[in-house]
Amino acid sequence: MNAFQKDLFDNNVSGYLGRIDINKNTKPILNNIIQGDCLEVLKTTPVSSVDIVFADPPYNVKKDYGVYQDDLSEDEYKKWMKNIIKESRRIAKSGILFYVGSKLTKLFYELIPDAHLIIVHKRAVGVIQNNYFLQYHSLFSTVKPIKKTKDLWDDIRLPGEGYFFREERFDTPGLTSQALIYKIVDSFTKPNDIILDPFIGTGATAVVAKNTGRNFIGIELNPKYIELANKRVASTCKPLFI
Ligand SMILES: C[S@@+](CC[C@H](N)C(=O)[O-])C[C@H]1O[C@@H](n2cnc3c(N)ncnc32)[C@H](O)[C@@H]1O
Repeated sequence: MNAFQKDLFDNNVSGYLGRIDINKNTKPILNNIIQGDCLEVLKTTPVSSVDIVFADPPYNVKKDYGVYQDDLSEDEYKKWMKNIIKESRRIAKSGILFYVGSKLTKLFYELIPDAHLIIVHKRAVGVIQNNYFLQYHSLFSTVKPIKKTKDLWDDIRLPGEGYFFREERFDTPGLTSQALIYKIVDSFTKPNDIILDPFIGTGATAVVAKNTGRNFIGIELNPKYIELANKRVASTCKPLFI
């Protein structure tokens, strides 16, 4: 554990995230969600201060996230993601994982050329484009798995699979499957690791982290999602033994 992580554990974080107003009266950052723009927050986060960054970013497909409209030009989106990837790499000791829809696969290959690609099979026949069914998501990883891991994940139920997706749904267009995050946690992290999720939404990463004895730091723009995420985390049990 480095000095920053020790301070996080001790809840004594003052002075570290300069632009975020942290003092003794504010909540500790570890196992909490920061409301704000993730790029700004990432820029103020120290080098190698978390173990992994896991991101399920907006896909630039005009989804309505309340305070964010997901409607940038291609160039703006690429530049935004490039900066987020750069900052994520800087703060993550073990590496980064970015999870995107199949249409963004080419772009993310370009943005993270050293990543390993894991294909996450989506069973439901979802969107059709030019007569092709889009039936996978792409998980780009620069993290070395801690155990042997296949690069085709076909055992996860994803939102959009109708009846077969049995997880609780929340009022957001971009829900991430907890099953996916369980598998990521299992393959790429150890107990007590710190996972930073810059687009934490309604908190799937936080719930899984708490459930598996990992730590999380979340960042989210929309305060309504944060409220929901905090409720989900509060009703999640920590494991007795990890
Ligand atoms: C694909 S969703 C992620 C869903 C999340 N993993 C969950 O389980 O609910 C993308 C999220 O990014 C948030 N977002 C968009 N722009 C952001 C920004 N600049 N900083 C932080 N969060 C942002 C949106 O509000 C949305 O909740």
